[in-house]
Amino acid sequence: MNGNELAQPQKTGLLARMQRALGPAGVFFRGFLEEPRMVGSIIPSSRVTINAMLEPVEWSRCKLFVEYGPGVGTFCQPVLDRLPRDGELLVIDTNPLFIDYLKRTIRDSRFHAVLGSAADVEDIVRSIGHEKADYILSGLPFSTLPDGVGPAIVKATHRVLREGGAFLTYQFAGVARDLTARVFPRVETGYVWRNIPPCVLAWGWKDIDPAE
Ligand SMILES: C[S@@+](CC[C@H](N)C(=O)[O-])C[C@H]1O[C@@H](n2cnc3c(N)ncnc32)[C@H](O)[C@@H]1O
Repeated sequence: MNGNELAQPQKTGLLARMQRALGPAGVFFRGFLEEPRMVGSIIPSSRVTINAMLEPVEWSRCKLFVEYGPGVGTFCQPVLDRLPRDGELLVIDTNPLFIDYLKRTIRDSRFHAVLGSAADVEDIVRSIGHEKADYILSGLPFSTLPDGVGPAIVKATHRVLREGGAFLTYQFAGVARDLTARVFPRVETGYVWRNIPPCVLAWGWKDIDPAE
């Protein structure tokens, strides 16, 4: 049985009963139990992390916001609440349990949930009719991704962002921040204590090239 089938409402068994009783937290915990290295956390991000991470975004200029690793959608509604009417939110996750859950629970015509890897962001962005993304947010567990996947994701992210856009990361370790700094010349950083566990924030800016 795959993750999509597991996500169906008629599931039985202890895990399924726990998932139903706990709502999104139960789905998230189940995702962690099935894929601990890919999920990398047992509880979703805090409200303080969400607000701090999204604070520098210039929403009036945002036509496409991309999120890697949305899990059960902790950031999705806060992003949709801030996004203009003609903006779109594209989320990409490798876990069918989470993608299926998001498709069933988020009803917004601006929302696209795609099962796939962040490494393929350029093709996935094109598949929904865009060439560039304005902002890309990542909740990926960069420390536990398979070898070479993290650097490849950061390079593809830089290519697909428009000039003036940014790559936003939050992670318990500083790996995402350090990988971002290898590719993005300007990186701003922050730290949130009110998260379990506390996390490192980084914003890598793809500045407009003054020579052009
Ligand atoms: C720590 S969870 C993030 C949860 C959520 N964003 C939050 O803030 O609560 C990491 C997520 O990354 C996803 N993931 C892992 N590798 C991925 C990849 N290569 N591409 C897209 N998603 C991936 C996992 O399935 C999981 O949903």
